[in-house]
Amino acid sequence: MSRKKILAGNWKMYKSINEARNWIRVFQGSKKGVLHVDILLFPAYTTIYPIGKEASKANISLGAQNLHEAEEGAYTGEVSGKMLVEAGADWVLIGHSERRILFGEHDERINLKVLRALISGLKPILCVGETLEEREANQQEDVVRRQLIEGLKDIHPDDLYQVVIAYEPVWAIGTGQTATPQDAQEMHSFIRSIIGSQWKSRIAESIRILYGGSVKPDNAKELFACPDIDGGLVGGASLKAETFLSILRAF
Ligand code: PGA
Repeated sequence: MSRKKILAGNWKMYKSINEARNWIRVFQGSKKGVLHVDILLFPAYTTIYPIGKEASKANISLGAQNLHEAEEGAYTGEVSGKMLVEAGADWVLIGHSERRILFGEHDERINLKVLRALISGLKPILCVGETLEEREANQQEDVVRRQLIEGLKDIHPDDLYQVVIAYEPVWAIGTGQTATPQDAQEMHSFIRSIIGSQWKSRIAESIRILYGGSVKPDNAKELFACPDIDGGLVGGASLKAETFLSILRAF
């Protein structure tokens, strides 16, 4: 089964609207020849709408870094799925480790967010991954299994085709420490086997699983060559269009 690759840039709380426009200009100027990869960018909420036209001309899909699980309501400071769609988002990151750790998001809430994303017409990227402590205690498979099963609870199997999984070991995010291609491949294959045993093998074969955690131009090629790694979710190295393009060339 051939799965279309994805390269996604998570801009976190960086980049003004103007900086985002410049990024797209540079990217657009030199991206030629790599049309077989889905390119996704996750800017700040406030940047999604203003860069919509430029992004679409450059064949870039936009997503948000989070959403609230309710349809609407008295939730000061929050943003709904419907609002994100209206602003031009097609995708949404859910359960990023920074949301889990810094904002206390747990599996139950993450699951409600995945459900809300799907109802709203957004494609969720569910992020999973163990901490350093969990890996040292050899609990990585238990943690990732729990995050997957809880995070995808009550999702209709047909809707799972809309979902992408990102395996991001927490100890590799922003640290310069990457999982070895072997470790990453092992976990990706494990994730695929969980999807196959909980749902259907057909879904497991077609679901795209991204690797995230210190992806850089010099390690991207080896990671993306692994059979179960369908692309990358890139933080720090996505902030410069030139670096992101070098990673894109790794495909
Ligand atoms: P990093 O971040 O590439 O800077 O490690 C990845 C992420 O947080 O998604």
